[in-house]
Amino acid sequence: MAYNIAVIPGDGIGTEVVSAVRPLLDEAADREGVSLSYTGFDWGSQRYLEEGSMMPADGVDTLRGYDAILLGAVGHPEIPDHVTLRGLMLPIRKRLDQRVCERPSVLYEGVESPLRGYEGGDIDFVIFRENTEGEYADVGGREHQGFDHELAVQSAVFTREGTETVVRAAFEAASEREENLTNVTKSNAQAYGMVLWDEVVADIAEEYPDVTVERLLVDAAAMDLVRRPEEFDVLVTSNLFGDVLTDLGAIIAGTMGLAPSANLNVDGTAPSMFEPVHGSAPDIAGEGIANPLATVLSGAMLFEHLGEAAPAARLRETVQEQLADPNAPRTLDLGGNAGTEAVVTDLEARL
Ligand code: NAD
Ligand code: IPM
Ligand code: MN
Repeated sequence: MAYNIAVIPGDGIGTEVVSAVRPLLDEAADREGVSLSYTGFDWGSQRYLEEGSMMPADGVDTLRGYDAILLGAVGHPEIPDHVTLRGLMLPIRKRLDQRVCERPSVLYEGVESPLRGYEGGDIDFVIFRENTEGEYADVGGREHQGFDHELAVQSAVFTREGTETVVRAAFEAASEREENLTNVTKSNAQAYGMVLWDEVVADIAEEYPDVTVERLLVDAAAMDLVRRPEEFDVLVTSNLFGDVLTDLGAIIAGTMGLAPSANLNVDGTAPSMFEPVHGSAPDIAGEGIANPLATVLSGAMLFEHLGEAAPAARLRETVQEQLADPNAPRTLDLGGNAGTEAVVTDLEARL
């Protein structure tokens, strides 16, 4: 099979990891008789500085013609984040209806968790994050700027349909995994959206009688992800809570540099987008030391979404093998001193 992939390297380390990983994805595809054809889009902060916009006005529509999108990261230290992210990544997620964000958290053999006593194999859960509404809804405004009575309103939006979509995706995953789903909300304080959310979970739970459902408030969930991460299988939560908990999920599994993600359009009306959970990391950008493995694993999720299980498995196994080898090159975040390219070259040799 041949697929057309839109590639948006973006900013900072996003460009570094994407350019390093692209040939590896090609090679993994090739070995399994799959062919990828890339179209690169140089959208991002540099374009904003030169032309005043992060992407062309018809950028999102251009992406509709592709089978999937690979994104590096977006964000520039000299441009406000709400300008860059709302000019590129967030509109793609929203307008391509990528309602479901899937973010696995796996502590691999050979990787050290900052949690005492945990080792490879102990942590393996996946967070399903609602991805286009909730606390990220573009509903609100500012008034009376410059006065003492200046105000800002930022509303959260929860639709039954949007909630059902992500909750159903989480139940499906749970029924294929360990049949254990944790619903994370804050319905003790937020009595409208979060209570609707809990009701949706209760309704859909009836369709999955074999899945055990646990309810956790988000503050307790943050604590328990540190205290007893081994007990989690599938978690489902809102957009903002999912954002916060997936950084936590990344670090307890060793590093941000290993955390992949999928922004899924579940009904196939538009392409899905695959990207590492991490950002453009201005603190290490330009040094060639970013960990490329989160992007490799995002590539594996891309193949899986395309229905190509073989290259996905090959990439995952290669990453696992490298991490388990104490003599393999590692980036700084994994306690090594190797650069991005050296890690990818080693993966290529193991593929
Ligand atoms: P970040 O994820 O970029 O970095 C957090 C920390 O993790 C930094 O110390 C960084 O060096 C480290 N890190 C991240 N990825 C790494 C990798 N692959 N290898 C080694 N170390 C890695 O988060 P931040 O600093 O809060 O945000 C920086 C910028 O990125 C901001 O502009 C933010 O808005 C943006 N951002 C974008 C995305 C995205 O495009 N998907 C995601 C998160 C943040
Ligand atoms: C992520 C990022 C984004 C988010 C930001 C950059 C808007 O943190 O993908 O986790 O909050 O979704
Ligand atoms: Mn985030």
